[in-house]
Formats: sequence, C-alpha cells, structure tokens
Amino acid sequence: MTDPIAVLVEDDPEQAEVSQSVLEAAGYVVQSFNSIAPAQNHIRTSEDLIDLFVLDRRLPVNAGEPATDEFGDELLNEVRLGHPDARLIVFTGFATIRHVQESLQGSGQLPAQEGQPLDRVTVLEKDQSLEFKEQVEQFRKLLQDLDDIEIITSPGAAPLSVLDKRTLRRLAFDYGAASVSVSSLAGGMTDAGVWRCQINRTEGLIATVVAKRVRAPGSAGGLPELLPRANTTAIVRTISGLMAGKHVNVLQLAGESPYSLMDVIAERPAQAVELAKPVWDALHGVAAQQTTLTVAALSESLIAWERLSELLRAYGIQTPAGSLSVTTHIGPRHGDLHPGNVLIDNGQAVLIDFDSETFAAGLLDPITMLISTLVHPASPLCGEAWPDASHITSTFATPEFGQGHSCEVWFRGVQDWINECQTSQREYWALVLAYAGRQLQYGDVLKNQEIVDRIVAIAALAADALRSS
Ligand SMILES: Nc1ncnc2c1ncn2[C@@H]1O[C@H](COP(=O)(O)OP(=O)(O)O)[C@@H](O)[C@H]1O
Ligand SMILES: [Mg+2]
Repeated sequence: MTDPIAVLVEDDPEQAEVSQSVLEAAGYVVQSFNSIAPAQNHIRTSEDLIDLFVLDRRLPVNAGEPATDEFGDELLNEVRLGHPDARLIVFTGFATIRHVQESLQGSGQLPAQEGQPLDRVTVLEKDQSLEFKEQVEQFRKLLQDLDDIEIITSPGAAPLSVLDKRTLRRLAFDYGAASVSVSSLAGGMTDAGVWRCQINRTEGLIATVVAKRVRAPGSAGGLPELLPRANTTAIVRTISGLMAGKHVNVLQLAGESPYSLMDVIAERPAQAVELAKPVWDALHGVAAQQTTLTVAALSESLIAWERLSELLRAYGIQTPAGSLSVTTHIGPRHGDLHPGNVLIDNGQAVLIDFDSETFAAGLLDPITMLISTLVHPASPLCGEAWPDASHITSTFATPEFGQGHSCEVWFRGVQDWINECQTSQREYWALVLAYAGRQLQYGDVLKNQEIVDRIVAIAALAADALRSS
C-alpha cells in the first residue's frame, strides 16, 4: 500500500518541522517546500496523486525574499482551482483568519464518511496545532477507509496505477462497498480508464457497472436523455473528489457481452446497416434548428480552421476561406460516432462514449460514421488495400463509391443517412474536410501510410469541392 502524499509549503523552519512531524506521524509522505516558486513548479509538473496541501498564507516567492500574503494567496488560489478535489489546510495570522475563512467558504466538500462530509478547505491560525493534528488525522482516516476497500483483478491483468486504484476505490466507497472486482475495458485513444466493475458489499454483489474516468464531469440533460432509453447507456452518476481532479462516470452496462458495430461491418455489411438504422433514425429525430454560420464555426467542434489549414498545407492542400457562409441544422450530437462507439447487445444497437458530445450540425455524426470506417485504426478496413487514394479521388461522394467491394452495402446505407441529414453541399464538404484534416494530428493515424493517403485524397477532394461550392 502506498502512503498518501501531502505537500507542505511553509517558510518558518520551526513551524515547518512541527507540521512535517504531525503529517508523518499520521502516515503521510510529505513533500516539503519553503517558498512559492519551487512548490509551484512541483505542483504543476508532478504526476503524483496529491491528497493534501498544507499551505502557509504568508510566503516568499523564493527562499530568502520577503514573505507576503499576496503571493501566498496566488498559490492558494492555484491549488484551490487546479486541484478541486484535494484537501487543503491553510495557515494564516490572527488578524486575517476571519477574512480568509470567509473568502474560502463554500470551497466544497469531500466524500461523506458515515454521513459526515468533510470540508475541503480548512483555515487555521498558526498556533492551532491541536486542531491541525485533528484535521490531519481525520482526513487520514478517510483515506484509510478508501484503502481498506479490496480491489480484485483477474490473474494476469495489467497492473493498476495509483490513480486507477484510487478511482476504483472511490467508486466503491460511494456504494458503501467492501470490495470491487474489475476488468479493464481498455479504452480507445483517450487515456481515460474504462472498467467493468462488480461492486460487493459484505452481504454480496450489489451492482455491475461500467466506470469511466474522464477529465470533465458528464453533461446532464444532454443527448442520452433525448434518445430512446434502449439505444443509450445512461450515466448512473458522476463521482468526483480525491482523484487528482478527474471524474468518474458510472454507466449502465450495455448487456452482458456486447460487441461493437465495427466488428460487423466487414463480415455482414447489410446487417450492420440494419442494426445501425434505429440509432440513426433516433439521432435524426433529435430536435435541431436551421441556421447559417461560417464553415469555420460549423467545423469548430472538430478542429479550429487555422489548425486545419496548417495541417493540410503540409500535404500541399490549400484550405478554402473559413468565412464562407453555410446553412445547417444545429442540435445536440454525439460528436465521436465511429462504429466502435455503437455496441450491439441482443440484436440491439446501443450508443456509448458521449465524452465528445457537442452542439453541432446534424451531419456531423453521419460524416463521422462514413469517414471513420475508412480511417479509424480499429476499423476492419484499416490494413486493407481498399479503398486506395485513386478510388477515393474518382468516386467518393458518388453512387460509385464502394461499388463491387464487399462493404458496398454499408457505404450505401451510410450515404442514405447522410442524404437524410444534409442541409447543404457546403455543409457536407466543410465537415468532410474538417473531419479528414483532424485525423492528421493523431500519431496512430500518421503511422499508417495507407490511411494517410486515404485522408489526403478525401481532404484534397473536399477542399476543391468546397472552394467551388
Ligand atoms: N456501457 C458500457 N457497457 C459495456 N461496455 C462498455 C460500455 N462503455 C464502454 N464499454 C467498453 O469499453 C470500451 C471503451 O469505452 P469508451 O467509452 O468507448 O472509451 P474511449 O473514450 O476510450 O473510446 C468500449 O469500446 C466498450 O467495449
Ligand atoms: Mg470509444
């Protein structure tokens, strides 16, 4: 078991020694600093899971310089905002304690321990060493309660990082669990952890859920709420606190052993269309508003227009002006609808992975579905000779695209969906250009020359078509 980490920033050597020994006695590993600059540098760059910050409010920027409240407050604010789920104890002088307490009021709470949530921020006077010891020990007890939860992995599973373990225990803690059995669902290209979790209390199994660690909390009232329940995996809850600023989305399981639509496309393209159809219809049915904006704004959720121009320039493609007007229908969209994010359970398609959910063109999701099938590293067409750049150049966006290929039916199905959603030609080509160009920033895409050739062929075609639209 790893001891929790506390960062201590204190310029008075005597006080630093007292605080350090209190922290160590309670079982923390202490990372100690006597001025702001080195502490800031450490906090900004450390990969450690820091649970507790103990800060003096009056500090010098560098050792030996005069200490001021002003600089101390800057550090305090940086920690408060940058580590929104860590515990924070602030020492201040007798004259200012009231003022500081008031200004830090409402800084949030940490998970309930026997129904008693812990304030995240505590302000103490310099001589309140007894209170400090109490606070430190009480928080240590909470961390111990978390560590007491057993994590059960299957033999041979990849080792879990400190943050993984904390994430899984934090989840189990919320369920009042004694142990959690986990298996990794190996997320795609994000560094987010995704696990299937069986949550056990002493009396037995109480829930099986999917836990996904994300950077930002889920947006309640978004797209999943607007789609039929059968076609989405609801977020049961979002948990935060004590996970280095990360959040965990707890999701309903999409069946016992679902497989992805990606796996169906190559073998049974007609069935893939059949399976996807209800989801496409549901997405198409989400309310949207017709509006006119610039192609740069239309593509914003995919990529910034300047960045797109820069990426394409390297391949000799000139990007048309981002100021072109385009008519479209804007509404809530999935935002990353590649076939790997459509799971099939019991013959029913279920959407997952709403992390990129966005308010955008109705055509965004169908375009993503189309091009991702050609370029996504997990696509069965990745590593296939078809379609090569010349087939793309001569047939993309025409009824001839895919003709004679075993996946032809799939592409025809996606094209039908595109036709249903499309508001204008410009909309189509701008999104094709933006989606294709965006791929050129991913390392795993750039590693595969065949994929790069496809992307460049699509982008070149789209740039020309958009310019002459
Ligand atoms: N609700 C769920 N039910 C079952 N499996 C899921 C669920 N959510 C995700 N998975 C599995 O975990 C994988 C990664 O999840 P996903 O949300 O797509 O993460 P990423 O953002 O890394 O693509 C999926 O491809 C799927 O196999
Ligand atoms: Mg995914």
